[in-house]
Amino acid sequence: MITLGIETSCDETACAVVKDGKILSNEVSSSVKLHSEYGGVVPEIASRFHVEYINGVVKKALKKARVNILDLELIAVTYGPGLSGSLLIGVSFAKALSYALSIPIIGINHINAHIYANFIRNKFKRMPKFPFIGLVVSGGHTSIMLCRNLNDFRILGNTKDDAVGEAFDKVAKILGLGYPGGPIIEKRARHFRKKDMIKLPKTYLEKHSYDFSFSGIKTAVLYYIKNKKLTKDFIALVAYSFQEAVFDVIIEKTIRACRKFDIKTLVIGGGVAANNRLFNKIKDACDANRILFYSPGKSLCLDNGAMVAMLGEALFEKNEILNNEINVETNLESMLTWERTFR
Ligand code: KG4
Ligand code: ZN
Repeated sequence: MITLGIETSCDETACAVVKDGKILSNEVSSSVKLHSEYGGVVPEIASRFHVEYINGVVKKALKKARVNILDLELIAVTYGPGLSGSLLIGVSFAKALSYALSIPIIGINHINAHIYANFIRNKFKRMPKFPFIGLVVSGGHTSIMLCRNLNDFRILGNTKDDAVGEAFDKVAKILGLGYPGGPIIEKRARHFRKKDMIKLPKTYLEKHSYDFSFSGIKTAVLYYIKNKKLTKDFIALVAYSFQEAVFDVIIEKTIRACRKFDIKTLVIGGGVAANNRLFNKIKDACDANRILFYSPGKSLCLDNGAMVAMLGEALFEKNEILNNEINVETNLESMLTWERTFR
């Protein structure tokens, strides 16, 4: 089966062609530079970029895959969560193409696709096995999920305010660094020593909560740097301390979820999962708790079309319901209603 995957939920216009579980092409065009002066994604700019570039990205993906458009058999498209204007471009494009080619279309949940990236390729070259705990850490999401099978991903906890990637971006802006902030903070923090660390607030919320809150630490950074000179060393100190505090909370809650549900596998995804410090810290915590750990390579952590196409193909093969009337769902969650009873 040949599947075209389209991803436009945020600032990446991404498209991939996959054939029977193999990536033939995976193209991304990003408007990230256009947002840098604002320190965050400007929805209007992102949407306009998608409209302008989507034809070219799809064409390029088909060309690289050496696939004729008429040979496509399935279209998978992200329909949520994400920015409405951005999602609308991808979904409209995908629906028009499915109509013109008379081929089925399947709507894909972006968060689940981030997790599914681990089934394409991961650092350990073995496939995760259900059930597992999924952790998605990105610019728009911070979610801990109990994943029982391909179409049963249930949210245990979410962020109550900023997503972790968003917190990185905002702290980078406060420190006068560029955008996106995640990779810059990671780089600046790299050579800092733990013993000099400043104490920033770690927010755990209620006792058994798997939810997150990152807006407090961002404000704490803002107050901490007030009237201080932003030297290179000082920035490194703040970047390191922020990164450690945020990752400590994420790891503690995730490992707690593994223990609570007696799950021995952890799978992560999303842009922040590209962070080496997070990788090493989670890997250590998993080893200490005898948990198998999976993380996709850097390129598959960030938004891409391959994770969408692959998940689409896998769901299609499981006879997952196709819906030609898909619409965008900006606040789409995995399965929210269930989780509260399991706290
Ligand atoms: O998954 P993604 O490409 O888009 C969303 O679905 O949001 O994630 C983008 C986010 C940005 O906030 C960016 O700052 C963050 O991922 N990010 C990182 C790193 N690389 C990207 N955060 C921390 N460390 C990194 N190395
Ligand atoms: Zn994403």
